[in-house]
Amino acid sequence: MERPLGAATRGTTNPNRLRRVDNWIVETCGDALRAAADPLVVDLGYGATPVTPVELRARLAAGVRPDVRVVGLEIDPVRVAAARPAADPPGLTFARGGFELAGLRPALVRAFNVLRQYDESEVADAWRTVTGRLAPGGLLVEGTCDELGRLGSWVLLDAAGPRTLTLSAKLTTLETPATLAERLPKALIHRNVPGERIHGLIDALEHAWRSAAGYAPFGPRQRWLQTVEAVKETGWPILDTPRTWRHGYLTLPWPAVAPR
Ligand SMILES: C[S@@+](CC[C@H](N)C(=O)[O-])C[C@H]1O[C@@H](n2cnc3c(N)ncnc32)[C@H](O)[C@@H]1O
Repeated sequence: MERPLGAATRGTTNPNRLRRVDNWIVETCGDALRAAADPLVVDLGYGATPVTPVELRARLAAGVRPDVRVVGLEIDPVRVAAARPAADPPGLTFARGGFELAGLRPALVRAFNVLRQYDESEVADAWRTVTGRLAPGGLLVEGTCDELGRLGSWVLLDAAGPRTLTLSAKLTTLETPATLAERLPKALIHRNVPGERIHGLIDALEHAWRSAAGYAPFGPRQRWLQTVEAVKETGWPILDTPRTWRHGYLTLPWPAVAPR
């Protein structure tokens, strides 16, 4: 099922692209990584340059544990060779590998903007292959974002399957929650159609955002907080505290958004 590179995957990577998901990983997965017998983390499909594994290692070493070891895995051998000068063993290394994780048993895998190259029908197998190779208690964060990392979303999974969906928006540049629909994970991006739960959620956010137009003069953050409160009141099981909403993250249990 592994896919050769297409022209769309070539080019440089914005160094801030994965900062929002990395901040979320530190807060949400930090305890699991601290408890791990082996603090091994895989950045799966890091792309044309090693910038995202370099940043992940720095973020986790500073915010979670200094002995973290990040391995960047890439299916493309040219990209593995190109990344090697950035290696800093044992904390940061690069190797060729795919969903089988090159035989590693990591505590955490981040796979960003990888599955979007695949068919929706391949997602479940890819998830199963990765989560079946995690260390006990291990986690997979699989998602998508835009070039600048302002809009994104990801699924948190463990060996039992998907646990949550998180939507992420940099609030200072958010025009409308409907734009999040363009950056859904592969498992959901084709499901933003009437009758699907994720469509119901995006619709509820959009409706509440419009109703909260009166908050616009106070800035997008106040308008977003009002939006989230309103959506929660209509029964959507939003998991985060208001402090997390303030930063533009919205997490729901997977069953609330799963495809029908
Ligand atoms: C668009 S780039 C994403 C780069 C980086 N993760 C980011 O978000 O900026 C996708 C990368 O995934 C790699 N890839 C595709 N399928 C893969 C697989 N099964 N295992 C590892 N890497 C894969 C491609 O070679 C490509 O470099």
